[in-house]
Amino acid sequence: MLYETTGIPKQTRFFYGADYNPDQWEHMPEVFERDIALMKQAGVTSASIGIFSWTSLEPEEGRYAFEWLDRVMDRFATEGMQVFLATPSGSKPMWMSEAYPEIRRVNKDGIRANSGGRHNHCLTSPIYREKVAQMNRALAERYAKHPALALWHIGNEFSGECHCANCKAGFQDWLRERYQTLDALNLAWWTKFWNHTFTDWSQIQTDDPSIDALALDWMRFVNDQHVSFIQAEIETVRAITPDIPCTTNFMGTNENTNYWQWAEGLDVIANDLYPQPDDRTHTWKQSIESDFIHSLMRGMSGGKPWMLLECSPSSVNWGKVNKLKRPEVHRQEVLQAVANGADTIHYFQWRKGQGGFEKYHGAVVDHEGSDQSRVFKECAQVGVELDALNPLFGSETPTAEVAILYDWESRWALNASAGPKKNFEGYPFPTDSYTENCQAQYRALTVAGQSADCVSAKSDFSNYKVLVIPSLYLITEALSKRLQDFVTAGGVLVGTYLSGYVGADNRCWLGGFPGAGLRSVFGIWNEELDNLYDAEHVNLIPIDCNFLGFTSTGTAHNFVERIHAEGAETIASFASDFHAGAPAITSNSSGQGRAYYLAGQLEDASLTEFYQKLAKQHGLKVSGYGELPEGVVLRKRHNAEGTFYFLFNYKREAQTFDLGSLRLRDLLGETILEGSVTLPAYASYVCAQVS
Ligand code: GAL
Repeated sequence: MLYETTGIPKQTRFFYGADYNPDQWEHMPEVFERDIALMKQAGVTSASIGIFSWTSLEPEEGRYAFEWLDRVMDRFATEGMQVFLATPSGSKPMWMSEAYPEIRRVNKDGIRANSGGRHNHCLTSPIYREKVAQMNRALAERYAKHPALALWHIGNEFSGECHCANCKAGFQDWLRERYQTLDALNLAWWTKFWNHTFTDWSQIQTDDPSIDALALDWMRFVNDQHVSFIQAEIETVRAITPDIPCTTNFMGTNENTNYWQWAEGLDVIANDLYPQPDDRTHTWKQSIESDFIHSLMRGMSGGKPWMLLECSPSSVNWGKVNKLKRPEVHRQEVLQAVANGADTIHYFQWRKGQGGFEKYHGAVVDHEGSDQSRVFKECAQVGVELDALNPLFGSETPTAEVAILYDWESRWALNASAGPKKNFEGYPFPTDSYTENCQAQYRALTVAGQSADCVSAKSDFSNYKVLVIPSLYLITEALSKRLQDFVTAGGVLVGTYLSGYVGADNRCWLGGFPGAGLRSVFGIWNEELDNLYDAEHVNLIPIDCNFLGFTSTGTAHNFVERIHAEGAETIASFASDFHAGAPAITSNSSGQGRAYYLAGQLEDASLTEFYQKLAKQHGLKVSGYGELPEGVVLRKRHNAEGTFYFLFNYKREAQTFDLGSLRLRDLLGETILEGSVTLPAYASYVCAQVS
């Protein structure tokens, strides 16, 4: 049974619900009654409860107050709804924060935070760990047999770091374990640079950007602290409720979290996603960015269903400009997650609080409180539709022919290294050149009609025909060997600029980039990196009769590497500035396979053409039937009942195209899609094939 392996609680319908904070409304009991009625009306099946409720659960040290939660759990059970019960570690009670200052984080300058905020506990503090364990045990014991308990929601969106004395000592111990001797550490970290030779472990600081290997190890240490904190939480509840799955909610491609590692200890993968309606850029690109993140979650759950544990049905309140989602966008985002393997759709939040920082954040229920709001009606309609789609629940997504390697280690090492340009633009969150490159490859593949799975450095690559390793900046000999084996056995490898610069300790590979043996895999030597100003570009020109039949005369931006072909053939060259004549795209035959190298950040159109030609050359199936226009995406899920087709138009304009031989019946409406079809703006269809 699928759900025994995915960890999603056993059932046959989609989970549909929200973060719910009934304890904030205890002084108005009628609100709870109203909420239950509205939940039933909206088709809600479940809610995440207690995420920030520690004070309500333990108003003073050692005095527990579970009565309010008993009422909520009991009522949910009576109504046939389920509870994702949170461990409340995401924010600490005032009394605790004041009584035990060590649980508050210390910043890089050594200043301890005041009480307040959230997601800001010290991960090392033995006191906090003990307090959390006590609370978790009490919760697990009280609700172990409760029929409403479906899932443990461990903490909330773990992230961040602390530089207190406990963390510093923890880091030093961690380093001793990793390097064994100071000599080994000094060499690995290249500490003769600027007099950093350590003669005692206690001299090592938690922050020193001048030693970029320290910065990389610090990221690893903090990540390990998160993993150990989360695992400790899981162990306390699992010991009492071994059959209740545990998860914690991820934040997509968050910077300081290697979610591949976190995923190993969870029963099911859960993510929070808040795409921002941003009219300054192309929103369809942002939809494809969401696709990429969904694909990453699917990768972490081994292709099995996962949970979208937070999204907003309308706006957020923390952006620079908090635009409402246009009609149809909310529905599209829900169905897009489902298309990509989500079997749970939960919102943040069920009801807008009357006060506090999130009182203007989108919610299913507005301050007005009735079922008459636009958003409530939309949510209720989504509830009806998810109910109609229950036959899809548990279905799998087909394995793609293409995989993208997403590697936090490369990202950390690159961001810690001064020199290569960092693109910290991005809205509303700053992004970086590493993730941007992964997104760009995914976007071009999508427009070229390819689905792409996300894999980690540990994954089995042999399931894929094509493996894309965008800016695989950090490479070990072991990984390089696996990539070589993949190519030798007939795989197609696509590497890009900023690949193979450093090894595991962030020291550059000697003997020419890309290092660790990748130089011979790609048949190139990357001699120099030119970082361009934002407004600059370098032209591209295809080589006559090139191997791929590539024809684009586009441009490259931000990064241009000056590479030499050493056995590889050139597909396109750079054609301007002093880069003119240097290879821009190369292809190297090796064993049964091929390795392509993209020496610059190609504009979208060129990259898309590259993948279109690559797909043709290497016999990949095109996931569209006929050519789908940019921004129209087709996805599939399948189970014993058949294949389900999801067709989306991510653009704000209607798009017309030919579906070729495919005839589809909309499962949520009357429409039959065949031949030349016009998809309205933001159209979303879930279909079965008809003959
Ligand atoms: C998430 C968080 C929620 C809520 C939401 C608002 O990051 O987990 O508690 O704050 O953002 O968008």
